[in-house]
Amino acid sequence: MDNFTFYNPTKWIFGKGQLEELKTEVPKYGKNVLLVYGGGSIKRNGLYDRVLSLLKEIDVQVHELSGVEPNPRISTVRKGADICKREGIDFILAVGGGSVIDCTKAIAAAAKFDGDPWDIVMKKVEVESALPFGTVLTHAATGSEMNAGSVITNWETKEKVSWKSPLVFPKFSICDPTHTFTVPKDQTVYGIVDMMTHIFEQYFHDAKDTPLQDRMCEGALKTIIETAPKLIEDLENYQLRETIMFAGTIALNGMLQMGYRGDWATHNIEHAVSAVYDIPHAGGLAILFPNWMKHNLHVRPERFQQLAVRVFDVDPTGKTPEEAGLEGIQKLREFWSSLGAPSRLADYDIDDSRLEEIADKAMFRGEFGNFHALNRDDVLSILKASL
Ligand code: NZQ
Ligand code: ZN
Repeated sequence: MDNFTFYNPTKWIFGKGQLEELKTEVPKYGKNVLLVYGGGSIKRNGLYDRVLSLLKEIDVQVHELSGVEPNPRISTVRKGADICKREGIDFILAVGGGSVIDCTKAIAAAAKFDGDPWDIVMKKVEVESALPFGTVLTHAATGSEMNAGSVITNWETKEKVSWKSPLVFPKFSICDPTHTFTVPKDQTVYGIVDMMTHIFEQYFHDAKDTPLQDRMCEGALKTIIETAPKLIEDLENYQLRETIMFAGTIALNGMLQMGYRGDWATHNIEHAVSAVYDIPHAGGLAILFPNWMKHNLHVRPERFQQLAVRVFDVDPTGKTPEEAGLEGIQKLREFWSSLGAPSRLADYDIDDSRLEEIADKAMFRGEFGNFHALNRDDVLSILKASL
């Protein structure tokens, strides 16, 4: 493995009833709070009222920014940063899924910056300071609750870009599985596909000799595969929601990425697809990732074989690594389809008319992918196979 430094300062507060911890955590950081949330799910399921009543108990002043979009927009970040500056906000509380948290990270940095927040996302400026913020997670998917990444969309220029800064780790994240009971079946499946793909992106890396990391990734994947089919039939099962929520955070809080660089090419291509078509992030991943696998099977077939055997129970007897690897890819496709995930771009009415534009967007920082670098032709070929 490669040398590494693991740094993750987020306080992870997990389990039933942990919302009460807001009363201990929030006063450590401020008295004038911006509450950020999405399109209304927290109002419908009662979480909004409970959060407000806890904040009232500790006597903080609350301002609100609602309506954060799935695939959050830079226009919403600008709105949030303006509120922070105008109202002298000293702490932000994000209550929602990855989109609300990612938007909050950008607001936290933008609130301490005089220029246009899009320059932060485009890495034209270094983040030098950020407002502190905490999260109450309502959807197990992205891992944003315990990492320093954020993905923001500029709808005017049709760009969806990820950025990160060590200054935007949440101070704390409250992860109570009961807060995910109301996530509908399709979104639950998207979350499962997203966390699995995060693990795959790290599993296909550029280093050698990572036996423990391999087993950690394989163990997490197997656990998700065992749990997911039961959960989608029993959405309010605490134990199943708990396992999936735990997995979603572990999948992208740095624990599985020690000692190597993960690939991340599929995420880059997906962000380009979502920038043009505004489809759900994990819907795009479910379509693209098996095609990325097939495209790269020749690079290190033994890696694909290992995944197939250890995670998808493929019997390798009498098969070449390519054959066993291919069987594993097929099993993954079947598994995601069995959950109801999309498998073709046509499922979102996407045809071949804008593939060149998507490829250009994916290539905007040049070749990418650490398991195997992709050029524009590779990207187009993966997109065409995904139609
Ligand atoms: O907006 P509301 O009304 O809250 O509804 C949301 C939204 O419609 C709903 N939802 C969330 N919690 C719910 C709920 N509905 C009922 N009950 C609840 N408890 O679910 C829908 C999707 O929410 P969203 O936050 O958009 O989903 P997700 O967590 O998958 O986040 C997706 C965004 O994160 C980015 C994606 O690109 C996308 O923009 N990513 C962020 C990453 C990171 N920061 O590390 C990594 C990921 O790979 C990903 O790229
Ligand atoms: Zn993702």
